[in-house]
Amino acid sequence: MDNNTVLQVNNLKKYYPVEAGFLKRRVGTVRAVDDVSFAIRQGETVSLVGESGCGKTTTSRCIVRAVDPTEGEILYRRENGEVIDLATIGQNELRPIRREFQMVFQDPFSSLNPRMTIFEIISEPLRVHGIGNQREREDRVADLLKRVGLRAEYMRRFPHAFSGGQRQRIGIARALAASPRLIVADEPVSALDVSVQAQVLNLMMDLQDELGLTYLFVAHDLSVVNQISNTVLVMYVGRVAEIGPPQALFRNPKHPYTAALIASVPKPDPFNLTERVIPEGEIANPANPPSGCYFHPRCPFVVDICKQTAPPLEEIEPGRFVSCHRATEIELMV
Ligand SMILES: Nc1ncnc2c1ncn2[C@@H]1O[C@H](COP(=O)(O)OP(=O)(O)OP(=O)(O)O)[C@@H](O)[C@H]1O
Ligand code: SF4
Ligand SMILES: [Mg+2]
Repeated sequence: MDNNTVLQVNNLKKYYPVEAGFLKRRVGTVRAVDDVSFAIRQGETVSLVGESGCGKTTTSRCIVRAVDPTEGEILYRRENGEVIDLATIGQNELRPIRREFQMVFQDPFSSLNPRMTIFEIISEPLRVHGIGNQREREDRVADLLKRVGLRAEYMRRFPHAFSGGQRQRIGIARALAASPRLIVADEPVSALDVSVQAQVLNLMMDLQDELGLTYLFVAHDLSVVNQISNTVLVMYVGRVAEIGPPQALFRNPKHPYTAALIASVPKPDPFNLTERVIPEGEIANPANPPSGCYFHPRCPFVVDICKQTAPPLEEIEPGRFVSCHRATEIELMV
């Protein structure tokens, strides 16, 4: 792990038991995250993309230790250079470090407590971590509100007074309150109107520049991640399909699933909508995944080995990682 890396995730797994019947007997396992590795450098953004249920939220929640991973390492470099493994650290040791990584949630309507004032919401991390007195917290909240483009006097109001975009700005202010280094944002603009999405994304990018923040960003929409990411990680059924810089990945995908995802993005040309291609076939079930490459039942390039052996994630060019047996031999058109 080099000095510029803030987060290095190695072989992360999160399995959930499938239980059945009155006695809740364990009848199977959901492989929500099934061997995910990636790194994020200081001040950069890594985006996770993939179809619904591929494990994006579970990966994010493991990283902020909202859930305990089943296996793997989550190495986090603190400001003083100390490296700790968030996957295994005990709750007592975790407590003082928690303020350094914060989450922004998808739904700004359900993620803000309707009975709390904006001051109480934004200052909550300060209270939890015992930072500042009442006066200092009020000053901090006023400053944060201004930073996210809202008025300081809004701190006396309740969430219902605000639009979706404003609420998400409040959610971002809360995430920033305790001066974190790493922000994990789980589809922070998906619930917003398209016209508001760009404003919130621009705000997040400005804050990143100003404060030197490191982002893990989850998105459905490939066009969103193209603008904001240094690195894109495409997930399929709990596994990494491909990792690379967005321009290279979109222009020249190396994994058939990446190519299918790109093809599924609607074209801006209204006459072209019929050309929208959705990856054929059903997404695999993480409780009962196929053998070998999880994508093989849907892949137009499948050969025998794909059905037998899971392809390892290999670096085929500097910074580009692909898990496909045929990554270097097939030509993918987008
Ligand atoms: N607490 C849980 N218990 C059992 N299964 C779970 C649990 N949380 C998630 N899963 C399963 O794990 C898989 C991954 O879910 P996850 O929410 O991480 O996907 P996602 O990529 O965030 O999807 P979306 O795009 O819909 O938000 C899904 O099959 C989901 O049903
Ligand atoms: S390993 Fe085989 S099935 Fe999987 S994506 Fe590559 S070609 Fe397709
Ligand atoms: Mg999710």
